[in-house]
Amino acid sequence: MRTRRSLIDLDDLNADEIEYLFARTRQFESQPPGHLLEGVACANMFFEQSTRTYTSFALAQQRLGAYSITLAPKDLSLATKGETMEDTAITLGAMGIGVLVVRHPEPGFPATVSQWFDGHVINAGDGGHAHPTQALLDIYTIRDEFGQLAGRSVAIVGDILHSRVAHSTIRGLQRLGVEVVLVGPEPFLPHDYAGKGVRVERDFDAVLRSSDAIVLLRIQRERFAEMPLSFEEYVRNYRLDAKRLAKVRNETIVMHPGPYNRGVELDDSVLLYAGWRYAKQVMHGVSVRMAVLDFLCNGVAVAS
Ligand code: CP
Repeated sequence: MRTRRSLIDLDDLNADEIEYLFARTRQFESQPPGHLLEGVACANMFFEQSTRTYTSFALAQQRLGAYSITLAPKDLSLATKGETMEDTAITLGAMGIGVLVVRHPEPGFPATVSQWFDGHVINAGDGGHAHPTQALLDIYTIRDEFGQLAGRSVAIVGDILHSRVAHSTIRGLQRLGVEVVLVGPEPFLPHDYAGKGVRVERDFDAVLRSSDAIVLLRIQRERFAEMPLSFEEYVRNYRLDAKRLAKVRNETIVMHPGPYNRGVELDDSVLLYAGWRYAKQVMHGVSVRMAVLDFLCNGVAVAS
């Protein structure tokens, strides 16, 4: 049934389209976008909690002049009346919803919804699989800092295995010519990641001086039952703290997709570090999502 373009992972965009989205993001940051989505109804359906992604999609939709609707899954007929997700998606499409932003704990859920929904589906995070708009805003933040991406080295540190952000960001960075170094212990970074064209490093200290950007990840406790290694050992080996920060180059930036857990993957010294870019990431999240919504609904803008 699906007739319109969706964004399920970064593979849905070619390199030129990613560049276009970044150029459009920059444009939206420097001038008001105008009501490019006037009359378009966007529904945000989050089956998992969200602060950043939900709020920035809602803001992006409102700034583009769209109708922004929240569909809380517990309030839908899906919850207690036996209506399937397939029939929910068909119903929403028939009602004229143009964009459905979906977050769900099950990998592949937004892709399945996109087969039934007659509109654009945007994956706002599906289990440990993908989070394409977070990856776009993270890569945009690195580009914004350094200009060129090709030849840069980015270390992604922590629970890679369960991180949908890492999985999308790795693919995007590789396609744009960035060296990706994954850092973590075997239970969070199985050795077979080395076959995916990335460098696998167990020793965090070994990458501190060579990294242009360090992306920290939280432990994704909601995606596994038992901590697979000693928590104290993990924190000792992989927390970015004042001692490790003293070893990075002055121009190195430190990022985190959020939410971050103080005392686990970072300590408070990181939040005071001049190269801490979390607030910029959050800010870019709104304009990147405006660019994605505009691109899916309107295509490539013709220069006037
Ligand atoms: N980075 C991110 O996806 O944050 P939220 O879970 O708050 O949306």
